[in-house]
Amino acid sequence: MALTAGSVDLTTDLGFLKLRNPVLTASGTFGYGLEFGPYLDLARLGGIVVKGLYYRPRGGNPPPRLVETPSGLINAIGLQGVGVEAFAAKVLPELRRAGTAVVVNVCGADDDEYAAVVEFLDRQEGIAAYELNISCPNVKKEGACPALAPRPTYDLVKRVKAASRRPIITKLSPNVTSIVEIAQAAAEAGTDAVALVNTFLAMAVDLETRRPKLGNVYGGLSGPAIKPIALRMVHQVASRLDVPVIGMGGIMTGVDALEFLVAGAAAVEVGTASFVDPDAAARVVDEIEAWCAARGVAAVRDLVGTLRTP
Ligand SMILES: Cc1cc2nc3c(=O)[nH]c(=O)nc-3n(C[C@H](O)[C@H](O)[C@H](O)COP(=O)(O)O)c2cc1C
Repeated sequence: MALTAGSVDLTTDLGFLKLRNPVLTASGTFGYGLEFGPYLDLARLGGIVVKGLYYRPRGGNPPPRLVETPSGLINAIGLQGVGVEAFAAKVLPELRRAGTAVVVNVCGADDDEYAAVVEFLDRQEGIAAYELNISCPNVKKEGACPALAPRPTYDLVKRVKAASRRPIITKLSPNVTSIVEIAQAAAEAGTDAVALVNTFLAMAVDLETRRPKLGNVYGGLSGPAIKPIALRMVHQVASRLDVPVIGMGGIMTGVDALEFLVAGAAAVEVGTASFVDPDAAARVVDEIEAWCAARGVAAVRDLVGTLRTP
């Protein structure tokens, strides 16, 4: 029986964090949140994951840093950011009044820096959780990052978890053979959730100049092109491990988001879609609600992990 849109229960409980609905914005695609205030009601979102923060300000990679592909985007921003002090002084006071959960994407050149970022931010109010970005493919040579192997993943998560008073979401890389093995290492180290996927190591060539199109040569592919692979990885992790999964990769519509939920994600993040349409994340919430209402699904959480496999 169809319901009215307003009567669908969208609330999402990750165990360590309760959200208004299962839709967050993906780090690096939504600035520090406030930039998008003119385009959508931030309080309509389940949460905002801000751009990755190192301890100090960081300039990122040389340009060009973005290339469009037929069904996606390759970026090599290189984690440009304002650093924790400016974030705490200039962004957080306003962001915490936005009426939605604020998740900080945490970066570091080494385990010590990740811990230092978390220790600094632990002294600030208005942060719901940390998302550990251990998976950026465009800061070190050939996409190197801790999330490519279980041991560095385990060690880093363990270290940050011990340093933090807040929940930790570990963001995984798809550039691995076994995503379950890496997720398991993060779970054994005590992560509260895993988020997947970050971008796929990629490149683009300018044939006329025979140069790479990106200043960094390699970058990370996001957008609709990666959705089927991201879905497969989310399903593998969610069906084999007992840790909440936040799914992302190419979500453009409510239907895309619902597919991730059915595959086992407890919540989702909307990334590249916000470049196409700055209110994409709020539209995804509306579309989830309308889909559930039309099919008589009273609570969106009832769809999580309901994929019928042979
Ligand atoms: C321009 C750009 C910048 C990004 N910056 C970050 C970042 O700072 N930290 C991070 O964990 N992920 C970053 N990502 C990855 C996204 O958060 C997301 O994992 C990825 O783009 C896949 O989702 P999508 O296909 O919906 O964009 C970035 C992605 C893009 C396109």
